[in-house]
Amino acid sequence: MTTSRNPIAVFDSGLGGLTVVRQLMRRLPAESIVYFGDTARVPYGIKSAETVTRFARENIEFLQTFGPKLIIAACNTASSAALPRLNGEYTVRLCGVVEPGARAAANKTRTGLVGVIGTEATIGSGCYTRCIADLNRDIKVTAKACPLLVPLVEDGRTSHDALVRMALEEYLRPLREAGVDTLVLGCTHYPLLKPGIREVMGPSVQIVDSARQTAQEAEKYLAASGELSRRDAEGRHRFFASDHPERFARLGKRFLGRPMGSVRLVQPELLDGRLALRVFEEN
Ligand code: DGL
Repeated sequence: MTTSRNPIAVFDSGLGGLTVVRQLMRRLPAESIVYFGDTARVPYGIKSAETVTRFARENIEFLQTFGPKLIIAACNTASSAALPRLNGEYTVRLCGVVEPGARAAANKTRTGLVGVIGTEATIGSGCYTRCIADLNRDIKVTAKACPLLVPLVEDGRTSHDALVRMALEEYLRPLREAGVDTLVLGCTHYPLLKPGIREVMGPSVQIVDSARQTAQEAEKYLAASGELSRRDAEGRHRFFASDHPERFARLGKRFLGRPMGSVRLVQPELLDGRLALRVFEEN
């Protein structure tokens, strides 16, 4: 049994899920958060659904050791490739970023023309298109994979960078041609390029940021289950990464919008013949 005192757990392939944590901290400051960034195995976006599912299962099992009241897969790739297979395997509530983003797009569009951008794996899974169609059969979705955007953001480049601008012009062209009035940022890294995406798409296109929508839905879920934190003080946040924790802390500031303190290393360990992730203790 979990209560309002238990933390919210969040995982992503690396840094990107911190955009979801940022929104959770803004909306639910009293909640404690445990975050795991799988920096040793990033990127997920170019891997098969089987591999991403295996990684997601290990991440969930690691996070379960903190007794979370909710686990958020703050990664569009894991949400689309792994969650449909993993839902039902765990008693803890699992929430992804695809459904909140799809719901917001279906509610916002006026013309019924919606665009979605994401990694190859997310777009290849057809998850957003299916999810939006389940909400409203009349909506036409144009989806486009943008594989260069994640490495550009990870390289520290922003909307004003010439390479980013070129990539955005190229990737967003089919969506502009399709005349979409709503665009879903179906990847954790894209909120960092929002100003550039807005400029290329034009002011009339509404941008749906899945991170913001996910934080909103997490609040709704916790309010309904009676598990919203009632602390007066700010929650306690813990960060873990499977490689380069110092780099994670340094770059993570940009995603989180504030410093994150120390980040602990997590490593795989053989346990009962299976690989399990454990906090690495230095002797
Ligand atoms: N977090 C991933 C996503 O939202 C992007 C990075 C990756 O490819 O692992 O799809």
